Amino acid sequence: MERMPEPEVMNEVEQVCAYASADFEQENQGFVNSFMTYFPEFSEGHIMDLGCGPADIPIRLARALPACRITGIDASQPMIDLGNRAVNAAGLAARITLRCERLQSLHLSEPADAGISNSVLHHLINPLRFWYALKQSVKPGGCVLVMDLIRPDSPEAAQAIVDRYAANEPPILRRDFYHSLLAAFTEDEVAAQLAEMNFSRLLIDVPDDRHWMVGGRVY
Ligand SMILES: C[S@@+](CC[C@H](N)C(=O)[O-])C[C@H]1O[C@@H](n2cnc3c(N)ncnc32)[C@H](O)[C@@H]1O
Repeated sequence: MERMPEPEVMNEVEQVCAYASADFEQENQGFVNSFMTYFPEFSEGHIMDLGCGPADIPIRLARALPACRITGIDASQPMIDLGNRAVNAAGLAARITLRCERLQSLHLSEPADAGISNSVLHHLINPLRFWYALKQSVKPGGCVLVMDLIRPDSPEAAQAIVDRYAANEPPILRRDFYHSLLAAFTEDEVAAQLAEMNFSRLLIDVPDDRHWMVGGRVY
């Protein structure tokens, strides 16, 4: 099936509220656990989250790594507003900073020690802009963990995944999940993007039936 891109930034208030209220515990805590497994020696420093959404992953990561600072960026102001509310409620405002900006125009005074991103690449028309921003955000030798959806073979297969994993979610979330699957990249496409960026130390894995994960160090 050909890729069908979806709108880049999640700006609709109803869409943002549905996303922020959904239960992504398994996926998001799984992502944090994977970070700890990939980088068991990483215990302090600055982590960048590209496309942080409502900041659930930064909050989980900050709790797991009490000596780390995290900066999350997202181009959606409603997402950043909800994220800031969650960060304040968690009492983590001293260690988590959220900024509303597009990753394509990101400028950091100093690159971070690690870069993470979940479920963002499929939003971009040009995926190389994402990998370029990641490279700019992380210092040489820094840790990288990126996860996103895999595009299924057909619209019917995408609908079956939505029905299996989001049966009880609100219609707007099911709609977005379906369109995200159609906009996602295949494992082979992601591998080609990594090769084009010369990310020879980043390896791609398929941890379950609907995600790919890229981890390793950038040089
Ligand atoms: C599906 S959400 C994922 C949010 C979060 N990473 C998570 O796992 O919960 C994708 C997020 O990427 C953001 N996004 C999309 N394109 C972006 C861009 N070019 N720059 C910054 N953020 C972007 C959207 O606004 C949205 O909040």
